[in-house]
Amino acid sequence: LWTPDNIIEDSLATIRAQVGTDKVLLGLSGGVDSSVVAALLHRAIGDQLTCVFVDNGLLRLGEGDQVMSTFARHMGVRVIRVDAEERFLGRLKGVSDPEQKRKIIGNTFIEVFDDEASKIQDVQWLAQGTIYPDVIESAGAKSGKAKVIKSHHNVGGLPDDMNLKLVEPLRELFKDEVRRIGVELGLPSEMVYRHPFPGPGLGVRILGEVQRHDAHTLRLADHIFIEELRRADLYDQVSQAFAVFLPVRSVGVVGDNRQYAHVIALRAVETLDFMTARWAHLPYEFLDLVCRRIVNEVPGVSRVVYDITGKPPGTIEWE
Ligand code: XMP
Repeated sequence: LWTPDNIIEDSLATIRAQVGTDKVLLGLSGGVDSSVVAALLHRAIGDQLTCVFVDNGLLRLGEGDQVMSTFARHMGVRVIRVDAEERFLGRLKGVSDPEQKRKIIGNTFIEVFDDEASKIQDVQWLAQGTIYPDVIESAGAKSGKAKVIKSHHNVGGLPDDMNLKLVEPLRELFKDEVRRIGVELGLPSEMVYRHPFPGPGLGVRILGEVQRHDAHTLRLADHIFIEELRRADLYDQVSQAFAVFLPVRSVGVVGDNRQYAHVIALRAVETLDFMTARWAHLPYEFLDLVCRRIVNEVPGVSRVVYDITGKPPGTIEWE
């Protein structure tokens, strides 16, 4: 019988049998899959688990602190936080091509993770949040930007280089099963039911070259959008929602001042499989509120637009 309890009990036994008294390393991103693996492994083997959390400077507002507070402070998981903002932004300097940006972010992630991993003694296992759909996708070797990064994060050069054996406790589970297990393991439900967030993060939501200052602007705008979606009980009704930073300026009047400032685009979609999507028909009053808050509260933004492009022809992300 499938119940979260049964699955957890089974997984704990399997993990313990597999790794014994060995040490396990996990790259924790704060996404659902790696978070559930962290919680599961922590329950199975406690301090034999070390997580590495790479802050690439392209996370959402307060995200790094949130990951640390959930795992390190509340659950007592050993998490090493690596502040790699300088390194990522340095590598992205002068680069504006979307695929190039993805590649750089993926490769830099591996480098940073590798550096950190090599400092930890006697690790024999690398844990990964591979879930059943990932297994199928890799087998089919389909192409697409999500999978390129997925393959970096999930099955990249790490195991070979570091001679680590793989432990993948979610390999047979679908996303909704992973979520139910996560809740059962005590993870906050906002974390478990969060919209997907791409590996390259805000790096593909700041169009063109990534500037630290623009990342800050985008973070503030995105936070307002998400906060209002939650407040209006709309968050769970859309599949994914976020703000995009457009590196163009438009004229506006904010307060009594003429402003020549940046544009923020809001994107919200409804979809089951993320292969096709329709733009979410959010209430006008709601959009009005979000727009006012962004223009009033986020310095350097004078205009907000709402993306009404479906997929196809548009992709969900802007890059
Ligand atoms: P698109 O933009 O292709 O996005 O319609 C479909 C879904 O995939 C996510 N996405 C990514 N996820 N690395 C990821 O891990 C990526 O490079 C990437 N690009 C897009 C996107 O957020 C959406 O959920």
